[in-house]
Amino acid sequence: MLIKLISLLLTLLSLGQGAVDRYVSEMSLGGNLFLVNREYSIGKDYVPNDLVKPQVDCLYSDITLRAEAAKALEQLFQAAQDEMGYRLIAVSGYRSYGKQRDIHQNKINLVGKKNALRVSAPPGCSEHQLGLAMDIGRKKSPGLNASFGDSLEGQWVAENCHRFGFIIRYKAEWEEITGYQYEPWHIRYVGVEHAERIYALDIPFEYYIQQLRQAQYALKDEERTK
Ligand code: DAL
Ligand code: ZN
Repeated sequence: MLIKLISLLLTLLSLGQGAVDRYVSEMSLGGNLFLVNREYSIGKDYVPNDLVKPQVDCLYSDITLRAEAAKALEQLFQAAQDEMGYRLIAVSGYRSYGKQRDIHQNKINLVGKKNALRVSAPPGCSEHQLGLAMDIGRKKSPGLNASFGDSLEGQWVAENCHRFGFIIRYKAEWEEITGYQYEPWHIRYVGVEHAERIYALDIPFEYYIQQLRQAQYALKDEERTK
């Protein structure tokens, strides 16, 4: 992992101040690289201003995503169908703070607080509130469970979603870092450039953002000492 992080840092540094500044601007609220987890939360009033209904098969009629991510999802689903004949379905996209609070409370009631925290984000801590995360399943069997990761469709998504700007956010081996159990169905939009890099390095999003911050500081330091 350390080698991968060093190589990412070197890549970012080699791209120079301009690229890193542009990436850092994407890390603010409203940008594709905004990091949300239990450590970094979003205010309860944050609602993206460009939510649209993606033109894909949806399990529910009220499923939305931010416009750029919705377009990318349409392309991902189309490619799954054209290249492999796989039919995917959108199950849960944007969720308001209030909706996430209800989902999380229901989960606590079902499995207790400690277990709930491994599978469900507290309100303000979910990527779904960003409108940049979508839970997806197989159209013929849309259940959100680990078996999606073993299915042909799930494996194809894991190996191809980066081409459309998405990453698999919660891999089993990253639970210590992300705080969540394996969720092969939860894809997070970050844009193609970043998704390609994160996929190639196979690192958690938290580490990617950490390296971007380090590159920003390193380049600023270099600037100061010139
Ligand atoms: N299941 C993911 C972690 C969420 O609730 O956002
Ligand atoms: Zn999700």
